[in-house]
Amino acid sequence: MPIPPLANGRPEVELQVPSPILRFSSAELGSGELWVKDDGQLNPLYSGNKARNLGRCLSAARAAGTRRILTAGGAGSHHVLATTLFARRCGLATTAVLTPQPWTHHAEQTLACALAWGLEPIPVATTAEVPLTALEHRQRGDVLVPIGGWGTLGSLAHAEAVEGLSGQIQQGSLPVPDCIVVALGSGGTASGILAGLACSRPGASVRGISVFARHAWLARAFVVPLAAREARRIGQQVGWRELDSRLLVTSAEVSAGYGRPTPSTATAQVIAARQGLTLDTTHTAKAFAAALRILDCSELTPSPAERPASRRANVGRAPVPIRVLYSHTLSRGSLEPLLAEAPGSTELPSAVRSLFHRA
Ligand SMILES: Cc1ncc(COP(=O)(O)O)c(C=O)c1O
Repeated sequence: MPIPPLANGRPEVELQVPSPILRFSSAELGSGELWVKDDGQLNPLYSGNKARNLGRCLSAARAAGTRRILTAGGAGSHHVLATTLFARRCGLATTAVLTPQPWTHHAEQTLACALAWGLEPIPVATTAEVPLTALEHRQRGDVLVPIGGWGTLGSLAHAEAVEGLSGQIQQGSLPVPDCIVVALGSGGTASGILAGLACSRPGASVRGISVFARHAWLARAFVVPLAAREARRIGQQVGWRELDSRLLVTSAEVSAGYGRPTPSTATAQVIAARQGLTLDTTHTAKAFAAALRILDCSELTPSPAERPASRRANVGRAPVPIRVLYSHTLSRGSLEPLLAEAPGSTELPSAVRSLFHRA
């Protein structure tokens, strides 16, 4: 798939919004309802939460006359790939500080694709090295985009998506969910959803499923202040306390290293695949597993003793139906067409290949 250059006057990232809403039906979900907000098909080139992030960042970068985006992420980062593809379309180069991540076919393909479309990689051994390395490589006129695309410019798009969701609720495409479940890496996506909910008030709470920060308080610290800033940008004053009360973060799905599976990711992938949803081990399988656990899916919670205390207390009584909206943040398209038509070599140089072995 060749990447068409940006036509005059077109937005940097054209999004087909609102995202489709799917109802996930499975006898395993008991009396609960699982709905899916599918951000996987927002753009024919590449989709997912990271594509949604990029529109404002790229338009600010072009307005500033920059030539290069300098950013960071894991070796198989979706953010780095999305930035490389959409920046290239706008005539901008991308350089990224890359950190180790366990090998998966998907992670390797993601990196190969970014390299083939012109990413300049700067491999480092640990996440702690990212800020200084980025500063060392910064050139005059670069636009710095934080790791994972975290920041107000990107996250506002997720707040706007909640407006779209409110419209879909009004039109009857889905009922008001009790909670929106989303993978929480840098926290930018969750903060946008939180700000959007607090401003448009459809009543749901946000469940951020931390994939990196071991301590829920640390993950919250990346989400709540950013959500407050986004709410101000939308023109509303929402206090930290209100935002905090609408956010529940769990670190139960944090694995023994960034990108590694947890005991529930494989089952989540199998259940999702039955209805055509492909999940990645790093983010979406963890969020989907958490959504199933909230619904008390018996495939994931085999013994009553493992059930959360709140659910155990319910045994013997009629189950409380709960409506969960899982936010699917992974691009759905295959990377094969992008790799087939890539201008560069798809062979990974040894310095970046070793990022997958050092994790
Ligand atoms: C597919 C996918 N889902 C969710 C996330 C988490 O998003 P955020 O970094 O905005 O918290 C990421 C981050 O890399 C991702 O690639």
